[in-house]
Amino acid sequence: MKTRFIIFDAYGTLFDVNSAAEKYKDKIGDKWESFANFWRTTQLEYTWLRSLMKRHKDFWQITEDSLDKSMRVFGINMAMKDDLLNLYKVLSSYPEVGEVLKNLKKKNVKLAILSNGTPALLNELVQSNDLKDFFDDLFSIESVKIYKPDSKVYDLPVQKYKVKPKDITFLSANTWDVSGAGNYGFNSIWVNRSNDIFDNLDFKPKNEINNLTQLLDLI
Ligand code: LAC
Repeated sequence: MKTRFIIFDAYGTLFDVNSAAEKYKDKIGDKWESFANFWRTTQLEYTWLRSLMKRHKDFWQITEDSLDKSMRVFGINMAMKDDLLNLYKVLSSYPEVGEVLKNLKKKNVKLAILSNGTPALLNELVQSNDLKDFFDDLFSIESVKIYKPDSKVYDLPVQKYKVKPKDITFLSANTWDVSGAGNYGFNSIWVNRSNDIFDNLDFKPKNEINNLTQLLDLI
């Protein structure tokens, strides 16, 4: 596969969204993983609902609103709220990410992130994980104020690089994001980290990998 533009989703693809609650698992107890999944699902639902209602709030506010609901649903002591929220700023990257980006960088391709996250959140994530120098661009939906999978979001790199959607290789672990980007026209690859089932949303990815290291065999 020849490509000059490789674009990654952030949350769940490069950065482990469960790592915030995991760092607190001793205090949360056995339910920490169900709680983390509920928080993530609620957060995504809020992005879709706010986009449909045309009542935009940025991803940091949505992350707080969804955390607040999730803590109440799971009966978690609200005193932990600020700590859990702040851990979301320093999520860990998946173990293979640094090495893969280093290898891709040698191949003379443009590397970027396209994410729901605010510019400040994306900057903090790449900085705290020591990945900043690998990326040419961090595209945030804040410049169009509507969330994925609206096509205005996927337009961002197409407009900046003046290329056709099919020239962009896009990777996401979120099946709905792979579908959104694939229907838009990106060469959309699914990073299936946990042996999941794909969606029925009019697009099936040509390539599916289990971790980002396998991308190096495709490029
Ligand atoms: C993002 C979410 C979809 O980073 O993971 O945009």
